[in-house]
Amino acid sequence: MKPEGNIPAPAVRRLSLYLRQLELLWADDRQKVSSKELGKALRLTDSQIRKDLAYFGQFGQAGVGYDITELTTNIRRILGTDRTWNVLLVGAGNLGSALSAYRGFAKRGFRLVAVFDSDRKKVGRPLTSNPELTVQHIDQLEEEVRRREIHLAINAVPAEAAQQIANRLVKAGVRGLFNFAPVNLDIDSQVAISSVDLAVQLEQLSFQVSMNQSIAEAEKSRKRKKKK
Ligand code: NAI
Repeated sequence: MKPEGNIPAPAVRRLSLYLRQLELLWADDRQKVSSKELGKALRLTDSQIRKDLAYFGQFGQAGVGYDITELTTNIRRILGTDRTWNVLLVGAGNLGSALSAYRGFAKRGFRLVAVFDSDRKKVGRPLTSNPELTVQHIDQLEEEVRRREIHLAINAVPAEAAQQIANRLVKAGVRGLFNFAPVNLDIDSQVAISSVDLAVQLEQLSFQVSMNQSIAEAEKSRKRKKKK
């Protein structure tokens, strides 16, 4: 496998899409799939798929396609999801509670094992959204990270607390941070960070819709002028 630095981030992101599609095919008792079929299902070209996979090694055979079990195993290994990760969550609020209820994480190898909050009214109580988890006080964060060997964390605290929590997580030994707070976190470059902001995504969507509307209106007016 080539060093991570040389692999374009979109190719890594598409690996997750390939994996999801392969899992669907596997559940359908399929054994082989071609890059063409994968591409059709994912609205990508077959050459894009071959190029992406080539970053990570030699997979499949020309004319035969990919062995679904083999490629699935390889992609899981590349993504690091061939093992189970213990994950912690900071912030047992609206978003944190919703995330804790999502069973899809466990299916993909991410086990939410601890939830922390600073609100004494929440601490010591099981989460309504996932009663298997009892909220722990944020003071216990460092000890739990070490004790349970937690390397991945979800940050779902308000923006003003996000940097301080991120610093503590990194110092405690967390190596990957999933940040939901709407701030640009300043953290050690050795720590992987993934940020999601639905408002930003919605802005991108509204931009595309506005663009499409402008194009449609320009086209309409062009046709009207032509008719006259
Ligand atoms: P919330 O107010 O319901 O929950 C925040 C929780 O964090 C509370 O339980 C609070 O007690 C806890 N908290 C505050 N300071 C803390 C600290 N220092 N240590 C530990 N716990 C602390 O807020 P909500 O709606 O759940 O949002 C959480 C974060 O996620 C916010 O930053 C919000 O802007 C962001 N968010 C991001 C979205 C996205 O698309 N990325 C979507 C929704 C929310």
